[in-house]
Amino acid sequence: MKIAIASDHGGVELKKNIINFLQNQNLEVADMSPVNDGLDDYPNFAEIVVKELAEKRADWGILICGTGIGISIAANRHKGIRAAILYDNFTAESAKVHNNANIVVFGGRTMTAEQAIERLKIFMNSRYEGGRHEQRLCKLDK
Ligand code: RB5
Repeated sequence: MKIAIASDHGGVELKKNIINFLQNQNLEVADMSPVNDGLDDYPNFAEIVVKELAEKRADWGILICGTGIGISIAANRHKGIRAAILYDNFTAESAKVHNNANIVVFGGRTMTAEQAIERLKIFMNSRYEGGRHEQRLCKLDK
C-alpha cells in the first residue's frame, strides 16, 4: 500500500508531520514535493500526485496547500479522482464510507497537525460502503 503525498509552500510543515506519522505506521510514503520555494503553484503538485495514481505507482494520495481548497479543485478536474478535504472527524469518515476518496486533502493554515492526523486515522480505519454510493460515484466520471 503506497501513498503519494505533496504540498505547496502552504503545507510544508503539516506534510512533514503527516509523513512522520505514516512512516511510524510502517506505511510506504513517497514525498512528491521534496522542495518548496514559496513561489510554487498548487496545481503542479495536484498533477504530480494524480499522475502517480493514474500510472499506478501509488494506491492513494494526500495533498496539502494553505487551505486545501485550491489543490482539491485542481485534483478533482482529473477523471477518476475523488479528492476530499477532511475538515472534521465526521467528514474524515464520510470521505471513505460514502465517497471512497482516493486523495485526502488538508489545509496547512486551517488545521493543526494533531487534527489532520486524527482525521487521517479515521479515514484509514473506515471502509467504503458501496451499494447506493457506487451508483453515485459512477455518475461522477460520465
Ligand atoms: C498559497 O499562498 C495559497 O493560495 C494556497 O496554498 C492555497 O491555500 C490555495 O487554495
